[in-house]
Amino acid sequence: DSEDLYVDHAYDMIVVSNRLPVDYEEQADGRVGWKSSPGGLVTALEPVMRAADGAWIGWAGVADREFDPFEHDGISIIPVPLSESELEEYYEGFSNDTLWPLYHDVIAPPSFHREWWDAYVRVNRRFAEAAARAASDGAVVWVQDYQLQLVPRMLRESRPDLVIGFFNHIPFPAYGIYSQLPWRRQVIDGLLGADVIGFQRVADAGNFSRAVRRLYGYRTHGTVIDVPVTDSNTPDADVRRVVARAFPISIDAAGFEEMARQPEVQARAAEIRESLGNPETIILGVDRLDYTKGIRHRMKAFGELLRDGRLAVEDVTLVQVASPSRERVETYRQLRDEIELTVGRLNGDYATLGHQAIAYLHHGYPRDEMVALYLAADVMLVTALRDGMNLVAKEYVACRFDNDGVLVLSEFAGASDELRQAVLVNPHDIEGLKDAIVEAVRMPRRERTRRMRALRRRVLDNDVAKWSASFLETLTGAGIIKPGITEP
Ligand code: G6P
Repeated sequence: DSEDLYVDHAYDMIVVSNRLPVDYEEQADGRVGWKSSPGGLVTALEPVMRAADGAWIGWAGVADREFDPFEHDGISIIPVPLSESELEEYYEGFSNDTLWPLYHDVIAPPSFHREWWDAYVRVNRRFAEAAARAASDGAVVWVQDYQLQLVPRMLRESRPDLVIGFFNHIPFPAYGIYSQLPWRRQVIDGLLGADVIGFQRVADAGNFSRAVRRLYGYRTHGTVIDVPVTDSNTPDADVRRVVARAFPISIDAAGFEEMARQPEVQARAAEIRESLGNPETIILGVDRLDYTKGIRHRMKAFGELLRDGRLAVEDVTLVQVASPSRERVETYRQLRDEIELTVGRLNGDYATLGHQAIAYLHHGYPRDEMVALYLAADVMLVTALRDGMNLVAKEYVACRFDNDGVLVLSEFAGASDELRQAVLVNPHDIEGLKDAIVEAVRMPRRERTRRMRALRRRVLDNDVAKWSASFLETLTGAGIIKPGITEP
């Protein structure tokens, strides 16, 4: 029964993230159930956790509900409750209306509210307490993402025996932007409670180290930060070595390829093509409906190509999947209105009775439907203005075992550090983006194959299992000196 799942100090491996891998959902017709969560984090960590027999601590996605621990797909799930006001102040407020826009280079203006910060501290403490309670002696606790940056320090204070990792799934901004945060010192201190702090890009790790030097004056050498154990910052103070470096996240590449090879999925891809009126070229965008994703820039470029007659709706259809996200946050509501206005205009101006310009879908879809879409897409457009990694780009590549398809990829997505054979774009440069789209649409088969082969090698060789193994090896490996713990 559920009591067995929540034995104190029972787990050697714990993941702590804001969201659990499953969300609790109440349908309009009154039916209830657990549904897979949105976003890249879950996709990345679920296979790791299943293998480790660990516990996952997180929020069930609804306010004012308490759930007993339970087992899901071989993972022990320990839900942490949030009240309605905490959902507003900690999740929608501080996490998604302060940190999210700030860490994504202020594409949207961040709001700073002291009550939101107070809720962030309170909720971080609750997550830390749940982890401290579930962790066995000397356990590995891996804390995830910007919603929980204070948890490493809080955990270290209550449980110095633990090995604590933190991974930031989103960008870490340059100091000039980061320093706007009124609680900039507290957040750095929270993170420095970890033994290893992982980032998506080398540049993110560099930005973090710089912030540590500017705000605390601690010494950094390469990827190591010397954090004084005592309060004094003198050269002979005891130091704890914290590693801050890049671990670019990935996907279950073989799993995606396997699904893409299934005959039903391929039949579905053909059916999608058919239902769009068999256009010569299908261009695809797949994103959470988020202002960081550059959906407007993409539509602007596409609309101008139709206007200028460089593309025609008889030949080319843009399919845009925009999965609903953070719908009560005002910036997201505005974005949805703007995008849907744009889609309506473009279709009004350019569609014919037989051919849409944009097929716009405001839905999330199950994995197999996404894979069918990737197979149907001749061109994949990833035009993020800022993105930690962007796993959609990697998913597309993993699915294209036919070595066909063209990836157009923003250089502001972390994935562009690795996927150099994509058609790289600066999405702010609308002329450049238009040329890149046309280049992708017209690219000869040999060139498509050459690029896709190289991209696939990269993604298949660097999958999520390798990512987590590399992080956990660094975390548990030699070189980390744990103060206060002496060998027995
Ligand atoms: C990004 C973040 C995740 C987050 C996901 C979905 O991938 O890095 O931490 O879970 O977006 O956003 P949501 O607010 O719905 O959890």
